[in-house]
Amino acid sequence: MQKLTKVVAVAALALTSAAALAQQPKPEDVIKYRRSVMNVIGWNFGPMAAMVQDKIPFNKEVFARNAGRVAAMSKMPLEGFIPGTEKGETKAKPELWQNFDDFKSKLEKMQGEADKLAEVAKGGDEAAMRAQFGATGKACKACHDEYRAK
Ligand code: HEC
Repeated sequence: MQKLTKVVAVAALALTSAAALAQQPKPEDVIKYRRSVMNVIGWNFGPMAAMVQDKIPFNKEVFARNAGRVAAMSKMPLEGFIPGTEKGETKAKPELWQNFDDFKSKLEKMQGEADKLAEVAKGGDEAAMRAQFGATGKACKACHDEYRAK
């Protein structure tokens, strides 16, 4: 019985250190993570943009689904912008790290607009959806203009 307890304790310890290691991903993986999140956001944003620009028929269901996805994903990039990930396969400008509070407030602005977009889309008022899409796109651009390299 005592032996079993010890085995369990050792196993638990091994799990804990594995978890601790998992919490320190490599910088290149952190960069990959944030770019992946942005890519998923972009993937879902694209068809909404095409609808608003009348390049494809306006489909309220798809619009609302994608708006919901963007709103959810908008909460995810921040944890990918951590110290130690300034250099590498990234388009994040050095200014981003120098003005991190402003970067964060631009992200929060986008999150607020994306939440509103998802909310408006549920209502199904096409004109309101178009207008709020514009506000959300502006919030993306405001950050990219300052902090993302071309
Ligand atoms: C607060 C700043 C900020 C906001 C807001 C923001 N982005 Fe980004 N985005 C970035 C940065 C910084 C990068 C570059 C990340 C990197 O390369 O490490 C990026 C990269 C991207 C990429 C390219 C990903 C890749 O690596 O190929 C896409 C697509 C994208 N963003 C779409 C969007 C869309 C759509 C929105 C609005 C719904 C948005 N972003 C809002 C900062 C932002």
